[in-house]
Amino acid sequence: MKTTFQNITGTFDILPDTYDADGTAVPSAAAWQHVEATVRDVMARFHAQEIRTPILEPTELVARGVGMLTDIVSKEMFAFERGDVHYVLRPEVTAPVMRAYLQHRLDQRGGVQRLYYIGPCFRAERPQKGRYRQFHQFGAELIGAEDARADAEVIALMLAVYRAFGLEAVTLRLNTLGDAGSRPRYKEALQAYFAPYTADLSETSRRRLQTNPLRLLDTKDEKERRLLDGAPVLLDFIDPESRAHYETLKGLLDDLGIAYVEDPFLVRGLDYYTRTAFELESPDLGAQSALAGGGRYDLLACELGSDEPVPAVGFAAGIERLFIALAAQGTALPGPAPPDAFLVALGDEAARYVFRLAQELRAAGLRVAFDLKGRSMKAQMREANRQNAPYTVIIGQDELAARRAQVKAMDTGMQAGVAFDDLAAYLKGPVPART
Ligand code: HAM
Repeated sequence: MKTTFQNITGTFDILPDTYDADGTAVPSAAAWQHVEATVRDVMARFHAQEIRTPILEPTELVARGVGMLTDIVSKEMFAFERGDVHYVLRPEVTAPVMRAYLQHRLDQRGGVQRLYYIGPCFRAERPQKGRYRQFHQFGAELIGAEDARADAEVIALMLAVYRAFGLEAVTLRLNTLGDAGSRPRYKEALQAYFAPYTADLSETSRRRLQTNPLRLLDTKDEKERRLLDGAPVLLDFIDPESRAHYETLKGLLDDLGIAYVEDPFLVRGLDYYTRTAFELESPDLGAQSALAGGGRYDLLACELGSDEPVPAVGFAAGIERLFIALAAQGTALPGPAPPDAFLVALGDEAARYVFRLAQELRAAGLRVAFDLKGRSMKAQMREANRQNAPYTVIIGQDELAARRAQVKAMDTGMQAGVAFDDLAAYLKGPVPART
């Protein structure tokens, strides 16, 4: 047999039914819809409004926004050119949202913009469980407020989504990165601290020490982690205003009863953050432990051409990782929805009538399925069962003559004769109980 095309490694199809892809369950399309609907519901409670930006963005936007030295920009972009235009498949949505905010002068809508999104992102990472090349994020961006309450609200919103799924066993890690001046001072201090240990560092870490020393803070190498114990801590290099902002934020989280762990080494893999940075972890994710992450990015607007900073804070979450955490806690997710009725035809004439009846019932608002392969009655009944239809509507020569169908409630096996003209009303009514 010829082999047919396969999807690209690190991407996956979402099918009507759940299936297994390399040892990880890919949930059904209905499960994805359920997750998206729950996210939308929580977003609406925070009065966040949806924004949809293109999958394709100018490469320069991502390079400037996310940062030239980040892994995302230096190694993981799916970028290409057409004529003079440089395109990138968006690796994240914060920079595109800020682009849209500036481009469309969304500040003129007044007040704070609470925006949310759900959609695919693309990063050329090494695929593994919880890490894909096409993955899906939901997230929210609060644009226009400097107040630490905006930071606290974004964190509360993020946690509210996980709570809506019954996921409580999560850890919020929190840090402050200070203002634009704090990090250069800290980077110098880190470089000075590590200089005598250069020989002990891996080649990657040696390179990072020169280009982006903050990246050393999330090293996985045991020896390097031990060195970190004595390393300077970012908090000691932070400007007083950022420190005050951080203290206020912690107080607000305490007010809301939100537990957090302060992590002075949390720096995040994107360059646009100032002040607040946070990550949400789940013990169920293994190596890819981050369910979601975010922070404040008041200077991103300037990178994108604005004369003025635009205070903003947001988070984004991986939907695939949410599914992994849900599976670990045994949460049942919906499968394909059954039709309200499955129409069974006996003979050609009945099949022709059933074809017309199906459209009439659908026009009346019912979900209706039927056979298109001319199969036997037994095969049609089997199909109705497989689809979990609560009713089958059986029509043969006798029923055509009497203009009455045999309606069988699949659960109880009870059968009733129902006039063709009354079918829609009958099928919409309650399934009769066993007597
Ligand atoms: P991020 O930490 O790069 O932040 O991504 C957010 C979340 O997306 C991660 O915590 C993870 O759940 C998921 N994710 C990232 N990469 C992958 C991947 N390759 N496969 C599967 N899931 C992945 C951002 O994207 C920022 N835009 C967050 C933000 C919003 N900051 C401010 N506003």
